[in-house]
Amino acid sequence: MAASTHGPVLFRRSFKVVGSDFLNAGSVSKDIKKALKQLNVDAEVIWRALIVSYEAEMNAVLYAHECDITLEISHSGIHLVFDDRGPGIPDIALAMTEGFSTATREMRERGFGAGLGLPNIKKTSDSLEVTSTVGKGTRLDIHILFPQAQSKAA
Ligand SMILES: Nc1ncnc2c1ncn2[C@@H]1O[C@H](COP(=O)(O)OP(=O)(O)OP(=O)(O)O)[C@@H](O)[C@H]1O
Ligand SMILES: [Mg+2]
Repeated sequence: MAASTHGPVLFRRSFKVVGSDFLNAGSVSKDIKKALKQLNVDAEVIWRALIVSYEAEMNAVLYAHECDITLEISHSGIHLVFDDRGPGIPDIALAMTEGFSTATREMRERGFGAGLGLPNIKKTSDSLEVTSTVGKGTRLDIHILFPQAQSKAA
């Protein structure tokens, strides 16, 4: 079975990212980190959630028009959804390849475009599901399990 959170949702919060809003870029992942800290979530899980949400948030800022983000917490872990309106990803397998990037020169000058964001989300989470429709948008479904849930699943 794919690693995913289950059981009743104990906490839910929504966020929004606006494409090309570099002034506020990074604020959603910071707010997610803050919320998890207030809920006394395991430090390693917070760190992983921060990495994953930062990469997804920056992709939304760089590539999408707008993005709805949902954070849900259950007994077993964290469920993050990034659902954007944007150009979509024509070849998801290619986009998941380390080093693949369509970042423009301008984006690269801002320090993005190593092509490591999506592979990093995959590595850092317990499961990542990418679905995309060209011309419509992209959705990332991400689960990060709490340590006790991971050992139970093993
Ligand atoms: N939300 C999205 N909408 C449309 N295309 C996307 C989206 N997220 C990623 N992509 C595409 O997938 C490619 C790879 O994304 P990834 O995050 O791995 O690397 P990057 O953003 O190019 O560079 P880095 O994350 O290392 O700064 C992007 O260059 C872009 O073409
Ligand atoms: Mg990226």
